[in-house]
Amino acid sequence: MNKPEEFAELKFDGKTIKLPVVRGTENEIGLDISKLRPQSGWITLDPGYTSTGSCQSAITFIDGEKGILRYRGYPIEELAEKSTFLEVAHLLLYGELPTAEELDRFTDTVRRHTMLHEDFRRFFSALPKDAHPMPVLAAAVGALATFYPEHDDAESLNHVHVGVVRLLAKMPTLAAAAFKHSIGQPTMWPRNDLDYASNFLRMMFGVPAEEYVIDPVIAKAVDLLLILHADHEQNCSTSSVRLVGSSQSHLFSGIAAGISALWGPLHGGANQKVIEMLERIATEHGTADRFVERAKDKSSNTRLMGFGHRVYKSYDPRAKILKKTCNDVISRVGGSSQLLEIAMRLEEIALNDDYFISRNLYPNVDFYSGVIYKAIGIPVNMFTVMFALGRLPGWIAQWMEMRADPTFKIGRPRQIYTGATVRHIPGR
Ligand code: CMC
Repeated sequence: MNKPEEFAELKFDGKTIKLPVVRGTENEIGLDISKLRPQSGWITLDPGYTSTGSCQSAITFIDGEKGILRYRGYPIEELAEKSTFLEVAHLLLYGELPTAEELDRFTDTVRRHTMLHEDFRRFFSALPKDAHPMPVLAAAVGALATFYPEHDDAESLNHVHVGVVRLLAKMPTLAAAAFKHSIGQPTMWPRNDLDYASNFLRMMFGVPAEEYVIDPVIAKAVDLLLILHADHEQNCSTSSVRLVGSSQSHLFSGIAAGISALWGPLHGGANQKVIEMLERIATEHGTADRFVERAKDKSSNTRLMGFGHRVYKSYDPRAKILKKTCNDVISRVGGSSQLLEIAMRLEEIALNDDYFISRNLYPNVDFYSGVIYKAIGIPVNMFTVMFALGRLPGWIAQWMEMRADPTFKIGRPRQIYTGATVRHIPGR
């Protein structure tokens, strides 16, 4: 794949530095600058890492210009149509879609680890009832490391595997328990005869006093949402997981960092902001046009949430799938289509406006996901938690890939110092 004979030349200050060229399987080109500083004393500067590759990875491929997303080579559209979340998790984690037998074994193992330690009950009661469930989830996953200290032994593959399964199994239980605590209802413990999405829905919406009837259409929509969020290469939260993990800290601590990074409104938190924006437009009656104008005005500090992406400079393929799913889910659950109509109106205005056209700003995954969550009754402050549940296998797969990489090094960027030059405390 790599052609070691290829070099780019960097000339500056009378020196010529040869930078090896690294080509990916999709012919993406990287210039290897890892020896730049030892050879020249210079570093590269790239705030926001817009032109910086942090690793080589075989997990997810995105072509942002063409709107392509593939996990391990499989197009997202095919996985969305023909697979389940646990199959996709297996694919991301272990490189291949599971055979029927492997899937049975994997599903069975995940099911057996869904319960939480009894002492965990006290954990939730220590937090404020009105706490946002994202920091609660981050804290809970961090706290989980104290119950399973053995998983910091990344040298032992078996320990890692059990840790991976525990996280996949317990995250829905933790997320639903955090929600139940926030609304003062008793925690619903998992039912291992249910599939992944149905089990989560029952823990979220069931109560001990009566049987919870699962709507298969809703369970399927949740499963699809989890698939679409499962990985997205080196985004902010995944890079956080890798950076924290690069110090060889516990897997669960890295995932807790990923959840914290995801919470921000420029990342996963955008799905909550989108629905708040749509609801505001709905109550203010037909102000979509005005909202778009405000989003274009730099002094307003307003952005069209769910629009734009660092990598996609065309329509996000996940948004395309979700837009269609919105219609299916709303017609099934009989919810109001008002928010969907506003979203479609905003999209239409923006996609015909020079500001958005010239900057290649299109709907991203968060633009339509909230409309579906809302239709199926997921509370707004749980939207980003849903994103986290989906992104979990991607975070873990990236963590595992990093730890198995023979070129693995602790992540430690450099800086250009711009502060005071040396000075001394006067009079002492
Ligand atoms: N509304 C209005 N203007 C925008 C928007 C937007 N949503 N997004 C970008 N721009 C403008 C921005 O002001 C800038 O204009 P100019 O060139 O005149 O200064 C230009 O487009 C480039 O934007 P940027 O902020 O330099 O681009 P970025 O790659 O650093 O940021 C982004 C990407 C996703 C943070 C940004 O598009 C954004 O803030 N979008 C809204 C939040 C959002 O939907 N986030 C979810 C991202 S997708 C899922 C995920 O990762 O969680």
